[in-house]
Amino acid sequence: MILAVESSCDESALATFDPARGVLREAVSSQAAAHEKHGGVVPDLASRMHLSALPLLLEEFREDMPAVTRIAVTRGPGLLPCLSLGIAFARALAAASGRPVVGVNHLRAHVHSPFIALHAADPEGFPAARAKLLPHLAAVVSGGNSLLVELGEDLRMRVLARTVDDAAGEAFDKGAKLLGLPYPGGALIEKLAAQGDPSKHRFPRGIPERADLRMSFSGLKTALRYQLEKLSDADLKSQLPDICAGYQLAIVEQLAAKTGSALDLKAFRSVGLSGGVANNAGVRAAIARVARERSLPLLTAEARHCGDNAGMVAFAAWADSGLPEGVAVVPEAQLPVERT
Ligand code: KG4
Repeated sequence: MILAVESSCDESALATFDPARGVLREAVSSQAAAHEKHGGVVPDLASRMHLSALPLLLEEFREDMPAVTRIAVTRGPGLLPCLSLGIAFARALAAASGRPVVGVNHLRAHVHSPFIALHAADPEGFPAARAKLLPHLAAVVSGGNSLLVELGEDLRMRVLARTVDDAAGEAFDKGAKLLGLPYPGGALIEKLAAQGDPSKHRFPRGIPERADLRMSFSGLKTALRYQLEKLSDADLKSQLPDICAGYQLAIVEQLAAKTGSALDLKAFRSVGLSGGVANNAGVRAAIARVARERSLPLLTAEARHCGDNAGMVAFAAWADSGLPEGVAVVPEAQLPVERT
């Protein structure tokens, strides 16, 4: 059984995973409220909060500890003080319990997260079931990343597309900030957008060329700033749902267009969607449409595995290779997808 520790950003999380059964127990402590007044995650505050949260979460796992054979921990990418704290915690646990510790790449864990449910449905049949879905195109859309990753038949990962500037979640959050909404604003923009008309305000769709897979979201907030300059406070209040709907649609359409272009590159056999922005119903529906148009199955990470969580880290420590046991686990803020 694997016990995983996740602390790359502002969520402290632990989970256990048994390869014969699936993810057994998960606990997350979110710091979002503490960072809200700063308008974003403050790394030193986040690492201090991990320091107090992780031991408390561990109490919930006491009875699982005797069965744990390996400790897994996110070693990157992420905020260095937060990664370091999680690794120190995992290493202390490993030293106290005499178990080995392995490092996990957070982005690779996001790529694998849509497969958690497939494994849970039939743990024994999982390797064969997954093999039928490869090569797989993973759309990882979070606060820090927007990536299209090929998961090959040999389980190697290759990045096909990334954003040249902001991530999709960042675009949601920066837009929300300009609109005076609390951090992180993605879910709130979705809520307001549901009552709005997306055709009233148009926002840029990034790089329009179909063959160019690069994404770009930073133009959205600039366009929003210009539109806001022309509005009175009263106009903003009455048009807020329409603005949110137009802003969200621009993000959704760009993600769908680039995913479609990537799928046309080769004979993929499935599509995956994960990361915090995968919580957005508009994003889910648009990627589902793109997959359906090509008769491909879509695997979407379950809600609890979309945002940062330790369930996906535990699963990836088994489903992906992770760092081999015995190698010193060190934090890497910029760890690329291609490396475990
Ligand atoms: O995966 P995650 O925890 O991000 C990173 O740590 O990178 O996801 C957080 C991101 C935030 O940008 C948040 O605004 C966005 O996911 N998000 C959403 C929704 N729920 C979370 N964006 C749009 N619609 C949502 N419903």
